[in-house]
Amino acid sequence: MLVLGIESSCDETGVALYEHTHGLLAHQLHTQMAMHAEYGGVVPELASRDHIRRLVPLTEAALQEAGKSYADIDAVAFTQGPGLGGALLAGASFANALAFSLGKPAIAVHHLEGHLLSPLLAAEKPEFPFVALLVSGGHTQLMAVRGIGDYTLLGESVDDAAGEAFDKTAKLLGLPYPGGAKLSELARLGSPDAFQLPRPMLHSPDLQMSFSGLKTAVLTAVQKVREQSGSDDIPEQTRNDICRAFQDAVVDVLAAKAQKALLDTGFRTLVVAGGVGANWKLREVFARLSVRRPSEKGRPKPAAEKINVFFPPLEYCTDNGAMIAFAGAMRLQSGHSAGAVNVKPRCPLTETGESGTEIVKSA
Ligand code: KG4
Ligand code: ZN
Repeated sequence: MLVLGIESSCDETGVALYEHTHGLLAHQLHTQMAMHAEYGGVVPELASRDHIRRLVPLTEAALQEAGKSYADIDAVAFTQGPGLGGALLAGASFANALAFSLGKPAIAVHHLEGHLLSPLLAAEKPEFPFVALLVSGGHTQLMAVRGIGDYTLLGESVDDAAGEAFDKTAKLLGLPYPGGAKLSELARLGSPDAFQLPRPMLHSPDLQMSFSGLKTAVLTAVQKVREQSGSDDIPEQTRNDICRAFQDAVVDVLAAKAQKALLDTGFRTLVVAGGVGANWKLREVFARLSVRRPSEKGRPKPAAEKINVFFPPLEYCTDNGAMIAFAGAMRLQSGHSAGAVNVKPRCPLTETGESGTEIVKSA
């Protein structure tokens, strides 16, 4: 079964072809980053128009890359939401029209399910069950994943998503859009001890997280530096040090909450997905992650247990068509398909699926 996957939820047009037995056959991507950079953020109307321009050429490039033709496609998977309404409609209309003209099914895919399953595209795949940490520009969630479609929300950010915090902090430090990845590069040059920033909700008894306060803490640190120097300019090394402190604080919180989720569920496999999963420090810390069960009175201290951590290949961390083609293929295998051309700009992963089956349970 050959599945064409279409991703158009924000500022990336992704098109890919996934085949059940041979895996990923083609993967094409166009990023609108340069177009939006001029405005300091994504302009929804420009994003929709650009998706419309790119969808056909990217699909043809993917078919050519895979050595396939339109007639070989068995199903068309597309991102139904969450995302920008117009951008989603561009991909959904294209996918549904193509599926209709081919007489094949169109499969609506939840964007976060795409991210969640993207580590299964790697050569070394995680086995169910696992805890998934979804860290993107719009979401920061911990999920218990017991199988395809069996997701339980364990905890999430109560305010900014981790990626959003990266981007807003980068903007505040005068870095060009999109700032998250740039901030992470500058953090490599910063000292880990120059600034101390808070770890919000680190010790809260649940799996909720909060990142908006960190941005404010960075603002306060910047103001102090400016007052002390009497200049609006932030010296390069100071800026790098702040980047490092910010990144370390976010990673510390994510690691502690992931450890708690692993202890709570009893799972020993962790999957990290979403754009922030590309962060070098996060990868470094998570690769060494272990957990230790609480000590019981009169008993020896439990040993540290190593966690198997899986990351998607770097190119599938940020938005792409491969994860949508893959999630669509998995859904097709389990008999799900979409009936109508609709998009869901806001849709929690706890929402009831198109087929009437509950695809996600909330803890
Ligand atoms: O998953 P994604 O491509 O799109 C959403 O669905 O949101 O994630 C994009 C987010 C952005 O906020 C971006 O700043 C962040 O991922 N990001 C990073 C890095 N690369 C991308 N954040 C931290 N470190 C990075 N290296
Ligand atoms: Zn995404």
